[in-house]
Formats: sequence, structure tokens, C-alpha cells
Amino acid sequence: MDIQMRPCKPDELDRFLITCVAAFGEEMDEASRKRHLKVLDAERAIAAWDGDQMVGTGGNYTFELTVPGGSVPAAGVTLVGVLPTHRRRGILTRLMGALLDDAVARKEPVAILWASESNIYQRFGYGAATRQMRIEAARDRLVWLDSSPAVGTARMISEDEALKVLPGIYDRVQVSTPGTFVRSGEWWRYHRLPDPPEHRNGAGPMFRVVLEIDGVAEAYALYRIQPEWDYTPKSLLRVIEALGTTDRATREIWKFLSGIDLIQTIAAWGLPLDHPLPLMVAEPPRLGVTVRDGLWLRILDIEAALSARSYGSTDRLVLEVEDSFRPRNAGRWCLDAGGASPSVSRCDDEPDGALSINDLGALYLGAWSGTQLQAAGRLREMTTGAAARVDALFRYSRAAFCPEIF
Ligand SMILES: CC(C)(COP(=O)(O)OP(=O)(O)OC[C@H]1O[C@@H](n2cnc3c(N)ncnc32)[C@H](O)[C@@H]1OP(=O)(O)O)[C@@H](O)C(=O)NCCC(=O)NCCS
Repeated sequence: MDIQMRPCKPDELDRFLITCVAAFGEEMDEASRKRHLKVLDAERAIAAWDGDQMVGTGGNYTFELTVPGGSVPAAGVTLVGVLPTHRRRGILTRLMGALLDDAVARKEPVAILWASESNIYQRFGYGAATRQMRIEAARDRLVWLDSSPAVGTARMISEDEALKVLPGIYDRVQVSTPGTFVRSGEWWRYHRLPDPPEHRNGAGPMFRVVLEIDGVAEAYALYRIQPEWDYTPKSLLRVIEALGTTDRATREIWKFLSGIDLIQTIAAWGLPLDHPLPLMVAEPPRLGVTVRDGLWLRILDIEAALSARSYGSTDRLVLEVEDSFRPRNAGRWCLDAGGASPSVSRCDDEPDGALSINDLGALYLGAWSGTQLQAAGRLREMTTGAAARVDALFRYSRAAFCPEIF
């Protein structure tokens, strides 16, 4: 089998999308394809061909990703699929190599993705870089510890108004939240706000609510309701995204959501681990919290990636990094956070610790600590106390999270 791999021509993008969703056992109608094409970059959509048959797909979005204290260009790996007729013959491995080469050529120091199954991408050097809380809360048991009256005014808005108001709120959250990325106007219009039937999964339309405090738009919620009646109302409220620019705004938008009538259960799929909800209610177990992985991140350029973020201490640490998929990253790296800006360079000094490129990705946004990696046998200490020094360097005040699957 001779498989060719190359970027798509513009007139092949429709086929690219059809092939990708076929790999997921689904289909995509023309309207959805048109929307996807508005945000897809043909040059970054790579297809695998068996003769004249497209059999595999993978693409990169061009993102700017918030990291602790800064931001970094990132390749947003997406639309990865190989047809069932062509699996386990190395096509994904070649696609991933091509996608990461594309990112390196564009000077993107990291690649990020959402994994359908978390065991797929570790072999390519990705680490679990954000974690998220899912809740499935019994609404009648959500008793707020703070019973003060609601603050602000919630208003339902149209898609057109949402396009004008929500980006300003999101941008204020995004700029200080590791794991989030800059959303363009096109992204909002064609990716975040559209409400096609295939997104509903048995629920109703997407509602958009903005919360204004003292006349300023400070929070918003996107949600759907899945109606269910069994003599009494037992509907499910599915929160798609609810963000506030301040702690108070975040608390108030959640109080608004919990006050929607006829709802038995409130479900949200992706909240940051430092979300205030568990500390706001009298019975945290009733929130039905589960924690799962979010973004997976692959460091492609250690020097550029590590120097783009800030650090929690002024230490100097030498790490031995293993990287079998892209061996050029492997070796000893010195991270010196003692100067005005961090310096990262190769060095020959004896290492303080050793870890894989995956685990450097898991540390990068602060989702995991050095001592956690050490406890799991993934960070090896060569000098005593190195794991705790990694903790102090990489910790950050905000939990990394990504509010959207792309
Ligand atoms: C996941 C998928 C893209 C893999 O494509 P593929 O061409 O079969 O992958 P490869 O042949 O390059 O596999 C490379 C390695 O990953 C392993 N692997 C591939 N898919 C895997 C999976 N779903 N779970 C566990 N391991 C997997 C292979 O066994 C192989 O291991 P090896 O190198 O030790 O032999 C393909 O199965 C698919 O399209 N699945 C459905 C859609 C999907 O889940 N896409 C990913 C979206 S995030």
C-alpha cells in the first residue's frame, strides 16, 4: 500500500471533512461543512491518499494560547481520522509527523489537541496539560451558602448581539487563563455560536444570556435545555460555556443558571479545577463532580515554549528530557528563572531531574506538579528536592483549562 500525504488543495476541503467525519462513523451536512470551511486553512489540512481515495485527515488551526504569564503561538491539531479500512498501518503516525513539521515550520513552539481517547497521542509526545471538572448537579440540592440577593441583570440575547458582546467578556477571561486561546471574529461566528441541529443531542436550541453588573457586561452563559416531563418537570440544563470576568460575575452567572425553572439536573462538561462552585454550595457532593483530561499539549521547541511563560520561583534547574518521536528536543536543558525574563538553553551540567517531553507538556500550563509526576514514577530526581523545586517553578495562580473542544 503506497500512501501519499500532502496538504489539501482548496477544492479538496469538502472531501477532507467528509472523510474525517466518516472516520468517526458520522456525516456532516453541507451547512456544517460550509461553516467549518470558514475557519479551516487549506494549507494546514493534510490528507492521506491511497491512489485517488482520501483515507486519512488531520489539520492544524493557527492559535495563540495563553500560558502562565504570557502567550505562545500554538498549532491546534484537529479533524484527525483514518478510515476503518486503513487503520493500524501507520497513517496517523505519518499524519502526526507532518502536522508537527507544519507547526515547527510556522514557528509554533507547541501543538495542542483534544483526544477522543487519551491513549492515542502520548506516543507522539503529548502530555495532559489541562484538566477539567464535569458536574451533574441535582438542582433542588443546590443550596447557596451565600444567600445575599442576586447582583446584576441577566438578559437573553440574539446571536447577532452575542457576536458583539460575548467576545469582550471572553477576551478578559482568556488573557489570564492558561489553556484558553484567542478567538477571532470568524471563530465566534462560524464555530462557537452556531447552533446546528446536530449539536443538540436531544436538547433544544442554544440560549445566550449576558449578565450586566452596573451596566457593564461581566459574564455570559450559553446553554440548552433537554426537556423531560414525567407528570412533574425533570428537564436537564446543559451548560455549554459560562464565563465571568471577575469572581463575583462568575458566582452570579451560576446563581442565574441554578435559578432556571423546570430543571431537575444541571450539567456542565468543562469547568476549571479552581472553579468556585464546590465552595459555594452547602452540599458539594450533590454537584456530582468528575474530573477528566482536557487539552493535550506537545512541546515542539523547548526553548521558545519555556521562555514564553512566567515562573513561580527564581530557581535554576537542569532537566534531562527524553523525546523519542522528535529526538531533536532530547537532551539537557537549563531553565533559569532568576533574571528579568526566563532563560532556557541547552547545557552540559549534571541534571537535577529527568522526564519525558510528555511530562514537560503536563507541567507546562501547571495542570500537574513535579511531586505528582515523581509520585507516579514519571519524574526522576537526580538531586534531592528537585521535584519540589519543579513545583515551585511551574506553579501558577490560575488552573489551566480550555472551555471548548475544537
Ligand atoms: C485514532 C486513529 C486516527 C488512528 O489511526 P491509525 O492510522 O490506525 O494509527 P496508526 O496506525 O498510526 O497507529 C499508531 C499507533 O497508535 C496505536 N493506536 C492507534 N489508534 C489507537 C487507539 N484508538 N487506541 C489505542 N492505540 C491506538 C496503534 O496501535 C499504533 O501503535 P504501535 O505504533 O505500537 O503499533 C483512527 O483509529 C481513527 O480514525 N479513529 C476514529 C476517529 C478518532 O478517534 N480520531 C482521533 C480524534 S482525536
